[in-house]
Amino acid sequence: MKILFVADVVGRPGRDAIESRLSSLRDERDVDFCVVNGENVADGVGITPKLAQRLLAAGADVITLGNHVWRRREIAPYLSGTDRVVRPANLSASSPGRGWTVAPAREGTRVAVLNLLGDLFMTPSVSPCEIVDGLVEEAQRETPVVLVDFHAEATSEKVALARYLDGKVTAVLGTHTHIQTNDARVQPGGTAAVTDAGMTGPHDSVIGVKADLAIQRMRTGMPVRFETAEGGVRLEGALVECDGSGRATGCDLVRVALD
Ligand SMILES: [Fe+2]
Repeated sequence: MKILFVADVVGRPGRDAIESRLSSLRDERDVDFCVVNGENVADGVGITPKLAQRLLAAGADVITLGNHVWRRREIAPYLSGTDRVVRPANLSASSPGRGWTVAPAREGTRVAVLNLLGDLFMTPSVSPCEIVDGLVEEAQRETPVVLVDFHAEATSEKVALARYLDGKVTAVLGTHTHIQTNDARVQPGGTAAVTDAGMTGPHDSVIGVKADLAIQRMRTGMPVRFETAEGGVRLEGALVECDGSGRATGCDLVRVALD
């Protein structure tokens, strides 16, 4: 089966890209299941229930999130009532929502999707290393096809977790840094991995933000209100192919220009 993972959807340009292109891309690549990271879809930070529903309606089977999960407060009650949007599993156990879910693919195979935050700059309640084994075991009791969205800053952390999970899950796909890395691979144990799947949004920018505003803040150290950029929109991510045992047989980067 083929699983399309769509990297961090940023602001209106990212959402427009999903709404205009995801459905046809699913057809072209013969995709059975689609996961979309949506943590930046609300003006560049956070997600609202309405925007989550729009991503689901546009072809996402499951939405993953990240460090900006609580930026829009209205998402909290929504997360408690949905099994199609997951927040990082290593947040406080008292926070709303779930850290993993299972949903059926087009041909019926069930796919588990886990979301984890990295340690560096992310301040998760629990280190991902502390809970990942238990989560993977729970997920595998449901299905052998398990995909992990590891939302993390450091390349080393993402490569190390992908290697640690090699042979235990179908794919470990990195998000958050918004710059697609040229390392899509199937590891020796059969787990697909990409250090960063990229960004679905405006690439004529500084990781989605209008470049002049990001530069102004960097040069002056003063607070600057960031705005989402507009040009160079691309849909980016990874296409993972796996067999019925959950072992990955292929992993390719996806990069589709929209303007
Ligand atoms: Fe993030």
